[in-house]
Amino acid sequence: MENADTVTDLTAPMGPLAYFLDLHPDLGDFRADAIEGLSKPEKCISPKYFYDERGSKLFQRITSLEEYYPTRTERSVFLDNAREICDAIGDGAAIFEYGSGASEKIAWLLKGLKDPAAYVAMDISKDHLIESASAIAEETQLPVAAICADFHAPVRLPEGVLPEAKRWLGFFPGSTIGNMLPETAVAFLTRASETLGPDAKFLIGVDLEKNPAVLNAAYNDREGITAEFNFNLLRRMRRELDAVLKIEDFEHYAFYNEELNRIEMHLRALRPTTITIDQHEFSFAQGETLHTENSHKYSMDRLNALFAQTPWRLEAAWKAPQDWFAACLLSNG
Ligand code: SAH
Ligand code: AVI
Repeated sequence: MENADTVTDLTAPMGPLAYFLDLHPDLGDFRADAIEGLSKPEKCISPKYFYDERGSKLFQRITSLEEYYPTRTERSVFLDNAREICDAIGDGAAIFEYGSGASEKIAWLLKGLKDPAAYVAMDISKDHLIESASAIAEETQLPVAAICADFHAPVRLPEGVLPEAKRWLGFFPGSTIGNMLPETAVAFLTRASETLGPDAKFLIGVDLEKNPAVLNAAYNDREGITAEFNFNLLRRMRRELDAVLKIEDFEHYAFYNEELNRIEMHLRALRPTTITIDQHEFSFAQGETLHTENSHKYSMDRLNALFAQTPWRLEAAWKAPQDWFAACLLSNG
């Protein structure tokens, strides 16, 4: 990651974007993380490596699957409560979205927000980010900027390239916060509070606990799109790291871990096999897994306990019917 002092030096206007900042992790990071994760007794890798152009497209397909309830449920929370949510955010805010993906959800919110000052989209999936942020700039005529970076690393707000805002609104929909361990979510929210400043607010979409049968179905869709999304990690290792592996030696394995309140996604070896990266050979026994993702499902009590460990204060929460999903508005300080 770049030193924070150099960040604004790298900005440049790009097409309809007020600026684009490229801090995409380089191939060396992927190689080092893959080797480190495969060396652990319980093999694992960060879910951020799902998202290249193909991974982002597969995720988009997941969002419209019948079994994958989170996207349409969050949409109904935002749309059913749009007036209240937008009033609580107030006028003149500049929006900073973490993990902006297709930037679909900001489009829903922008319809009701009063005089938004600007929109900054941040995502690790570069081409998808540029395409989605450019579309928002063209559709809304808002000043829009894009930052390709890992949201776990420190980033500084753009200075001098966007209009002055009354305050910053952090936006983190999709329950991407659920992909972090709770302690990582606390560290992320604490850093975001410093980045966004003392008057900031933060609107976060969080998936809530529900019947495990619904959860298991959402991550084991009948069309196999979630499986293909999971396999994309192996495809990226092969394509970008010249890893030697047999995709057909693995299966998609996703289940709800009731003790830890999370869906776990793994790639499970169907037979003894290996993944080789450079001179490193990693052996898998039959049934051994590479842990690729957690997706935590919160109760409001556990969510409140998590926010209490950060500088943010829960100002309001809007929930979907049957408490399936919550949109939480936090205030800084
Ligand atoms: N916000 C969108 C997309 C959610 S998918 C929605 O709600 O539909 C998660 C998004 O976060 C993807 O676009 C992915 O590329 C991005 N992402 C995942 N890990 C990331 C990381 N460490 N840093 C930055 N972006 C990340
Ligand atoms: C982005 N994230 C919140 C999704 C989730 O539900 O955890 C990613 C995903 N993994 C499998 N399906 C969707």
